[in-house]
Amino acid sequence: MDRVTVSSLKEMKEAGHKIAMITAYDYPSALFAEEAGAEVLLVGDSLGMVVLGYDSTVPVTMEEMLHHVKAVVRGSKRSMVVADMPFMSYQVNYTDALYNAGRFLKEGGAQAVKLEGGSEIAELVAKLVTAGIPVMGHIGLTPQSVNALGGYKVQGKDLKTAQKLLDDAKALADAGAFAIVLECVPAALAAKITESIPIPTIGIGSGVNCDGQVLVYHDILGMYPRMLPKFVKRYADLSSLIKEAIRQYVQEVKEQQFPEEKHSFTMAPEILERIY
Ligand code: KIV
Ligand code: NA
Repeated sequence: MDRVTVSSLKEMKEAGHKIAMITAYDYPSALFAEEAGAEVLLVGDSLGMVVLGYDSTVPVTMEEMLHHVKAVVRGSKRSMVVADMPFMSYQVNYTDALYNAGRFLKEGGAQAVKLEGGSEIAELVAKLVTAGIPVMGHIGLTPQSVNALGGYKVQGKDLKTAQKLLDDAKALADAGAFAIVLECVPAALAAKITESIPIPTIGIGSGVNCDGQVLVYHDILGMYPRMLPKFVKRYADLSSLIKEAIRQYVQEVKEQQFPEEKHSFTMAPEILERIY
C-alpha cells in the first residue's frame, strides 16, 4: 500500500474523515502505531521528555531527533513520518533552517517536518515548501516557548490572542503548510480555525471539531509518570504491566525459577569430561 501523503490528508479533511496522528520515537512504536492504523507518525520533540528524561523539549538537539527519526522510518511503510524541528534548529536564520529541515528528509527519511510558530515563521515555511519540504505548523501552546509563555496553559482565550491564532493559521496555510497542529486551544476557537482554512487541523487538547487528533504515545499507553495533562486519555496502564513483568523476572532469577531447562542449551557429556 502507498504511503499517506500531504494530498491524502487534505482529501480526508474534504471528505470529513478524521486523521489519527500519534507520536513515535523508535522502531517498535512505529510498527505498533502503523499496524493500529495511525495515518501520521510524529517524531515529536516530546522525545526529550518521554524518552530522554529532560524537563522540557528545550534541550533536544538535531542529532537526537535524527537518531530517532531514522528508527521510526525503519518501522513504518504506510504512515507519513513527520519530524519535529527542535528548538533553535530553525529560528537562527533561513540557511540553517533549510539545511536542518532538509536533513530530516535526506538523512532521516521523513516525509515532512513540523515547526512551532505562526505568522512570524510564515516566510520560512514558504521557503521550505518551495525547497520541496512539506511543513506541518504548530500553534497555540508551543512547548518550545515554555519559558516565554510562563508555563503550559491554554492559549487564545481572550480577543487579542484568539484573533492572533486565527491569523496565524491563515498565514501558515497561505505560506503552503499542509496541516497545522492546534495545541491547547479552546474547542470553539479550534472549530472556527478548522472551518476557516483549507488544510487539516490536528488537535491536541483542542476539542472534537479539528480534522484530526494527536496524542503522545507514552501518554496514551500510560508510560510517562511525570505528568498527565487534562487533554490526555489513557487507553492503557503499561507502566504497571511493565513493572509487574520485570518484578516477576527479578524474583524468578533470585529464586532460580528462571531460566528453566527449555531456555537452556545442551552438549554431549563426554566433551565436558574431556575439558579441565
Ligand atoms: O512533540 C510532540 O509530541 C508534539 C505533539 C504533542 C503535537 O509536538
Ligand atoms: Na513537539
